[in-house]
Amino acid sequence: MIVPLRKCLVPEFILGDGATNLANRYIKFFNPKKVLVVTDRGLKKTKLVSNVEKQLKADNISYCIYDNISPNPRDYEVMEGADVYRKEDCNVILAIGGGSPTDAAKGIGIVSTNHHHIKSFEGVDKILAPMPPLVCIPTTAGTSADISQFAIILDTELKTKLAIISKTVVPDTSLIDAETTLTMDKELTAATGIDALVHAIEAYVSTASSVITDMNALEAIKLVKQYLPLTIKSPLNLEYRNKMMLASLLAGIAFSNASLGLVHAMAHALGGLKDAPHGMCNAILLDHVIDFNFESATNKYVDIGNAFGINLDSSNPASSKALLIEALQEFKHICGIQPGLKQIGLKKADFRELAQKAYNDSCIVTNPKDAEIADIEKILEYAW
Ligand SMILES: [Fe+2]
Repeated sequence: MIVPLRKCLVPEFILGDGATNLANRYIKFFNPKKVLVVTDRGLKKTKLVSNVEKQLKADNISYCIYDNISPNPRDYEVMEGADVYRKEDCNVILAIGGGSPTDAAKGIGIVSTNHHHIKSFEGVDKILAPMPPLVCIPTTAGTSADISQFAIILDTELKTKLAIISKTVVPDTSLIDAETTLTMDKELTAATGIDALVHAIEAYVSTASSVITDMNALEAIKLVKQYLPLTIKSPLNLEYRNKMMLASLLAGIAFSNASLGLVHAMAHALGGLKDAPHGMCNAILLDHVIDFNFESATNKYVDIGNAFGINLDSSNPASSKALLIEALQEFKHICGIQPGLKQIGLKKADFRELAQKAYNDSCIVTNPKDAEIADIEKILEYAW
């Protein structure tokens, strides 16, 4: 067997019960002068943030908090956070939250050391200077921004999401404890959990996949299939939350290194235009993109079906494709996902603009099948 040449980058992570109690210990490794804690307004009032504040105070570590972060973090919030970082003379960043505060923290870090507007870093490997040290405490199970090479920021002028992809945005350390996810409501649990599933599926069929990303992706698919419906039903069950956190981590290792595909390219455009939840956009698009892609990666989709618990046969692609799409649609229904793009307010008049933006997104590069603007418009029509 020939193993294609691939690089793989996974940061240090501390996984398990009590990981968030180690924030001060891991921040001290970076000789902190002052720490910028990046979180959102909701989380700022929680025990989690006050526990971290207690740790910092106990060790006489100076800090300030920046919490002006929206879901789908905005470019101007990143620039404002970078101003705070500079004026307060910080030298370490601690992100506490889901994908939005974590991506914003990455954006603040990029701007702080590279001294240009965040919008100038869109694309692959556009960052020259390393970010300041970044420690993360994730509070959702799905985005994996706490371990990934991706930062997604909303360009408010163009109403699209910028995908910034670079090894320089990989955090230094992530403190991962599923207990932080117990407070997520059912909708957020479903949307973030499906995001993890889409990360795993897109990484597995990516043209940049590898033996390492494949192993992690398939395991993540099995875990999401088994535990996401259980978690939605019993949100306070820590065992289920742990399994979903693990699924998110494995899917994150997979997509951070194999990149993503057309679902994410379209979801970035869609989320920017309608300011809709990322996981929901992905979920609506997933089966329609598989319908488009299937014949270009039949054997891989058969593996995905098998990991998802349905027995598929690569010698019968048409039937395998139908069975996989049906199983994913049923799974989305169980998870309470909206049926179509119409329900999140998309108009047919938006299709052309959306398709053009998706076509220009970096995630499209590793999709297993080349998609033209007309193909993307057709997928939007089916998903409407
Ligand atoms: Fe995602």
